[in-house]
Amino acid sequence: MHFGDERNSVSTEKVRNIGVGVISLGWMGNLHARSYRAALEHFPDDSVKVRMVAAADASRDAAVRAQGVHGFEKVTADYREILVDPDVDVVSICAPNYLHHEMALAAAAAGKPFWIEKPMGISLAQSEEIARAAARANVITGVGFNYRNAPALVHARKLIASGTVGRVTNVTVRFLADYSSDPAGALTWRFEKARAGAGVLGDLLSHGFDLGHYLVGRISEVCALTSTFITERPLPAQDAVSHFSSGSGPLATVENEDHAAVLARFDNGVVGVFEASRTAVGPRAEYTVEIYGTAGSIRWDFQRLNEIQVCVGRGGGPYGYTTVYAEPGDGDFAHFQPGGGIAMGFDDLKTIEAHLFLTSVLRGEQLAPSTADGWAAAAVVDASERSVLSRSWVNVAMVDGITTFNRST
Ligand SMILES: NC(=O)c1ccc[n+]([C@@H]2O[C@H](COP(=O)([O-])OP(=O)(O)OC[C@H]3O[C@@H](n4cnc5c(N)ncnc54)[C@H](O)[C@@H]3O)[C@@H](O)[C@H]2O)c1
Repeated sequence: MHFGDERNSVSTEKVRNIGVGVISLGWMGNLHARSYRAALEHFPDDSVKVRMVAAADASRDAAVRAQGVHGFEKVTADYREILVDPDVDVVSICAPNYLHHEMALAAAAAGKPFWIEKPMGISLAQSEEIARAAARANVITGVGFNYRNAPALVHARKLIASGTVGRVTNVTVRFLADYSSDPAGALTWRFEKARAGAGVLGDLLSHGFDLGHYLVGRISEVCALTSTFITERPLPAQDAVSHFSSGSGPLATVENEDHAAVLARFDNGVVGVFEASRTAVGPRAEYTVEIYGTAGSIRWDFQRLNEIQVCVGRGGGPYGYTTVYAEPGDGDFAHFQPGGGIAMGFDDLKTIEAHLFLTSVLRGEQLAPSTADGWAAAAVVDASERSVLSRSWVNVAMVDGITTFNRST
């Protein structure tokens, strides 16, 4: 059985034919829409169907385009219409960051399970309110921490838990991207404090902090430095929304950081080094995780997402890294490819995320990552921002309702 467990499901009619509403049809909204349908292809279950009910976007063009591609029955410019639509059972929130808070609170109030993109809000307070509202309303949630779903990383997590690298001593997590390396790149919402919140701390390192939580444990204390290397950018042409667009308008000020360097301590004594850049020239999307232990180490790079480099011990044989390819048995790999060495891609990680979310909804059991994980990552972003301001080490606020730190789950 891949999807439902009828004992815990809310209503047989609804769980069999899940009505989907997607809010905001940019890069992520289109990917969410594709992923709901792909989840059914990769995790087939005859008793479950997905019905693409409604798409909402402030840009009518974006909504209508998405309707053509994904077959939504309705389009609207007002996301609230989706939340009161009785045919919509689950909602994706893929808007720019500043809209997440009001949309998530409205979804929780409407009792709709929601799958929200990271960063969950533009501040710790917003993220906490989202997580608490979801918990109070008792709705299932999902958060866009897709990198956790890479089967090679799931395998790495198992190796760590089974002591293969000994006691973990330190980790290095680097998210180096070039998406804003061109100074002619448009000043979109991502560069404004009011609409994005943090820069790379929220955009990239929220993923990095979540991976730290997922693989190692709770980050308890940080000391951070942030920098903005390209301080002005051209305003976008009216219809340019993507962070890959060029601008043609007058120059305006970039309000959040291009680069962040964060030293961290975990609750369990592990030391962390986190770095992110959106202006690196050379790395395209070089997102790396390195875990060092007393008996070995493991390395992963998103650009080679199906493999890890593993070094175990110094005892005797050749000393160095072995490439271990993800294969059936590692996470959900078998749902995508029949054998090791055959590559999965980025969109597949989102398909796994959709499946986790839908399964959570159908079973009535939160499978993770949830808004509590989004809140936990936001707490580390917030501590990093406070550390920058105070030029000192800062404690990370505690969060409620998280199961990720328990490495047996
Ligand atoms: N998980 C990941 O790896 C990942 C990758 C990229 C983006 N994201 C996150 O996804 C979210 C969206 O990013 P994106 O790259 O898809 O953005 P995007 O700029 O491509 O698309 C944003 C969409 O929101 C729409 N929009 C703007 N105002 C709206 C409103 N009031 N109501 C409804 N729709 C509105 C725009 O018209 C546009 O279609 C962000 O929070 C971002 O951080 C996550």
